[in-house]
Order: sequence, then structure tokens, then C-alpha cells
Amino acid sequence: MFLKTDFIVIGSGIAGLRASISLAGSGARVTVLTKDKASESNTEYAQGGVAVVLSEDDDADLHEDDTLVAGAGLCDEKAVETLVAEGTKYIKELIEWGTEFDRDGGKLVFAQEAAHSRRRILHAHGDSTGAELVRSLIARAGREKTINLLPFANTESLIVQDGRCVGVRFLDPILRAPREIYGKAVVMCTGGAGQLYQHTTNPPVATGDGMAMAYFAGAEMADMEFIQFHPTALALEGAPRFLLSEAMRGEGGVLRNINGERFMDRYDERVELAPRDIVSRSIVAEMRRTGSRYVFLDMTALGEAFLLERFPKIHETCRHLGLDIAKDQLPVSPASHYIMGGVRTDLWGRSTLPGLYAAGEVACTGVHGANRLASNSLLEGLVFGARAGEAAVNDNSELQIPNSRTKDDSQSGMWNPGSGIATAVRKRVKRVMWERVGILRDRDSLQRAIEEFEQIAASNLSTSSRNFVTLANLVAKAALWREESRGGHYRTDFPEQREEFRLHSVQAICEGVRSAHRIDFDDHNVSVAKPQS
Ligand code: FAD
Ligand code: SIN
Repeated sequence: MFLKTDFIVIGSGIAGLRASISLAGSGARVTVLTKDKASESNTEYAQGGVAVVLSEDDDADLHEDDTLVAGAGLCDEKAVETLVAEGTKYIKELIEWGTEFDRDGGKLVFAQEAAHSRRRILHAHGDSTGAELVRSLIARAGREKTINLLPFANTESLIVQDGRCVGVRFLDPILRAPREIYGKAVVMCTGGAGQLYQHTTNPPVATGDGMAMAYFAGAEMADMEFIQFHPTALALEGAPRFLLSEAMRGEGGVLRNINGERFMDRYDERVELAPRDIVSRSIVAEMRRTGSRYVFLDMTALGEAFLLERFPKIHETCRHLGLDIAKDQLPVSPASHYIMGGVRTDLWGRSTLPGLYAAGEVACTGVHGANRLASNSLLEGLVFGARAGEAAVNDNSELQIPNSRTKDDSQSGMWNPGSGIATAVRKRVKRVMWERVGILRDRDSLQRAIEEFEQIAASNLSTSSRNFVTLANLVAKAALWREESRGGHYRTDFPEQREEFRLHSVQAICEGVRSAHRIDFDDHNVSVAKPQS
């Protein structure tokens, strides 16, 4: 038996929840399939906050400019304009729905983060912004009678008929068996892929499944080489790589090497508030120079009372791990945090595969370019989640849901349980990604990574392992193609930015890497040949 619904949403982070609310607004039946419990997502762990133009001394042009500068020449200006303009509207709506951002005397409090020219970051319960967003969005979605949320429903492939995405294969959590669900359209909101790396701030659900599923179904992927490494993940032996928010440096935290010396002034005049890629590479250089596996984040000048109020969650988590953020030097080193690339979409979340929409971290809308400005991701999930939901309704309402199963014509194939070596495969891929496709890359390291991934992919893999290694290979191939350094992508053999690479990388199944001038394929997009090295 297969299931039928009007619209299928995969994922219940900020993008998936917001998309579902848009879809349900039309009266349609919406089935949300999500891998773990509903609240488990990158969104849930977001600390710093959400960037939005709401304070009196801010304006949209400033937020747009900051976003464009961070994106290092590869942002889509229309996408950035949409993000900023609609961001204000959708955040106000969230507040009306009961999201409690921190206030002082009734007025919203705005925090500072790196590369923002104004204090414009809203936060909740100090450093638990994501958890508050998830709480309020789940409550809001719960009021929509047509939303049916299915937790612990892991999806591994999309169903394509006659060149159109019509459904999803998932593991039914009750029957414990593969099952199919069909609808008028699928909105992919599966989030990021931090787990591709050995060291990551992301929770275990962030394995990039949606990107691989979309790729195998025939959608184009863009800018996969751009990975953001967060500079300050806790580096305690045996402990998870818990994030120590950028907001801590925004409030005055400083970085010191193992000899206790502040070092960022030797690397960038913006010191601790330089863009993340610069801080991450500076930390790596400093660790190499001093022969250490970490540097320290020093918050001791800020005072215990302030730190407890501003960073209660971080304070509590560090205390459990034996560290007092008000007194101790906190060992940190970079870890993979965010992927700027993903399923190529237009400004309404439409992918290049009819019937498939994507929003949030899984998508590449062009808002982040080569590097994401801090706290722009939650905003992107909110704005483009809402837009993708709206577009899915407007584009497909008249369609019939397929009422009989026909042959799947995508290359994604059927469910393959594989040979049970999934954990070993993942471990190997994660290590190779960290060592060869990491913060610093070069042609040799990338070629070796690709050879290894292709060898792994040739074995009898489960669908999920195949998805994982394929995604790793997409990142490595795009990184090999981009013979320059820009934003989150740093090639030691091409350390400069090169004008001829002011292009997006695009990958589709059975094709190599090609380039495009714009992410939005809808309007005047021209594909061009690879630049000459
Ligand atoms: P997610 O929130 O990751 O949701 C993805 C959903 O898809 C989850 O429900 C997941 O279970 C589900 N899923 C995944 N695979 C499958 C599958 N195969 N089948 C079914 N379901 C699946 N950004 C900011 O703007 N501000 C911040 O302060 C901030 N802090 C961060 C702190 C941390 C520790 C991390 C990891 C990230 C942070 N980010 C921050 C980034 C931001 O949280 C994410 O980019 C954003 O939340 C992504 O939202 P999303 O809805 O696209 O995906
Ligand atoms: C952080 O709090 O440092 C994370 C913010 C982000 O990723 O935007």
C-alpha cells in the first residue's frame, strides 16, 4: 500500500515547518516526513540568533551590503534583496505567533556578530534561539489541522515519473518497512551536511540526505565547494564539538594561542570579528605555529553575572564538561558548520526538477554566495521556506496526485539495504573529507579524495551510504574545479581570488562540473565553459 497526500515536506527545521504552514494555509493536506523527533534539527541548536532589520539605526541596504561582502562576489543580488526585505515581514509574523525574542524593558535586544555593520541579531533565552524558534513553529504548525507530522520517517530517495517528482520513499517507523508516499509536489527541507566531516558542530541528522536524493532524482546542484567552518567549536578530548557561539566574540571574547597571546591582530585588522573563514584559517595557522591542536577562547574579562545571563546554555553545557566560561580558558578549534551550496533553486524554491522544491540549508538560492554572513541562515529558512510552500501550492494545485504506481524513471533506483557496512563507510568518508577536502585544499588532496570516494561508491552500498559518499564526491569535485580561493573555499595551490571564476559551479547526474553565471535558472541564465587556468 502506498500513501497519498497533497504535498510532501521532508524535514522539520525552520524551513520545513514554515513551508508546511504556507502549504496548509491553502487548505491542502500536508505530510511532513522527518528523520528523528520533530524538534531534532540544526535549527534546534542555533545559538547566536537571527539577523533582521528591525532596529532604529539599521536599514535594508546595510544588511544587503554586509551579506554581499560576506558572499565574496557570488551572491545573487535579487535573492539577497528578497531575504532582507521579506525577512523583516516574516520575523514580525513569528513574533505575532508567540516567538519570544529577548527584550530589555519591552524593547527587542540586538546583538553584534562578525561582519555585520550594525547590531541586528535577535536572540532568545540568551543562546537558545533555535530551540525557541522550533518550539513556536511546532506550536503554530500544530494549529493547522491539515498538517500530519510523521517523526522517525527517514527518507532515502525521491520518486520521479515522466520527468516530474511525484513522491518519496521512506522507512515507515511503525511498519519498519520501506513505503512510498505520493503528492502533487515535494518540498525538500532536509538541512545541511556538516556530518560529512569528522569534526562538526552539526547534530547527527545533518547528513545532507536531501541533496543526494535530489541529485539522484535529476535536480541540479550548485556551489557545493563552499563549506563554512566555524572557528570556535569546543575542542575537549572525548567531548562533542559543541559550538561556542560567535556572539561570544561579538560580546568581547578574545582568542589566545596556547601561550596565552592574542593573535588575531597578526592576521586581520577586524581581529576576532573578521569573517569566519579568515578566523578559522588564522586559528589553523596559529595551531600549526605553536604545535597545538587548539587555541583558547577567553571570556574571563566579561564577568560571571553577564555571561550567565547572556549565555546560559553554553555556561551550563561547559560546566557539565568541567569548564567555567567565566574563569577558564576554553579550548576551541574549527569544525564544519554550514554548506552554502545545495539544490539549485530559483527565488521561489523551485529546483530544476519539476515538482521538487527546496528551502533552507539544503537549497542554494544564491543568498550566501561563497560565504554566509552569521545568523542569515535561520532567516533564509524562514523566508524561503514560506516562499517555497507558496509556490508549490500556486504551481501545482490543479494537478492530480498519481493514483497508481508506475515505473520510477529516475536514476535513484529502489531501496537497497546494502551490505551493512554503513558505519565504516561513513567514518572513512568523514576522515577523508576532513583531511583532504577541509579548510585548506589543493589539487593533489582533492584528486586523492575523489579517487577514494569513487572506489567506495563502486562497492555494494546501502542507499544511505551511497547518498553519503556521492555527496562527499560532489563537494570534492566542485572544489577541484574551482581553481581559486574565495569565501569558504581555500585552495593552497590557488590562494588568490580569480575574476574568471566569478561563476557558480553546477553539477547534475551523469555530467561533470560546469559553470553558470547565476543560481536562478529562471531568468537570463547562461551556461559557460570552464575558465582557463
Ligand atoms: P534543519 O534545521 O537542519 O532541519 C532539517 C530537518 O530535516 C530535520 O528535521 C532533520 O531531521 C530532517 N531530515 C534530514 N534528513 C532527513 C531524511 N533523510 N529524511 C527525513 N528527514 C530528514 N544559523 C543562524 O542563522 N543563526 C544561528 O545562531 C545559528 N547557529 C547555529 C548553531 C549550530 C550548532 C548549528 C549546527 C547551526 C547553526 N546555524 C545558525 C545554522 C542554522 O541552524 C541552520 O542552517 C538552519 O537551522 C537550517 O534550517 P533547515 O530548516 O534548513 O534545516
Ligand atoms: C553562532 O552562534 O556562532 C552560529 C551563528 C550562525 O551560524 O549563523
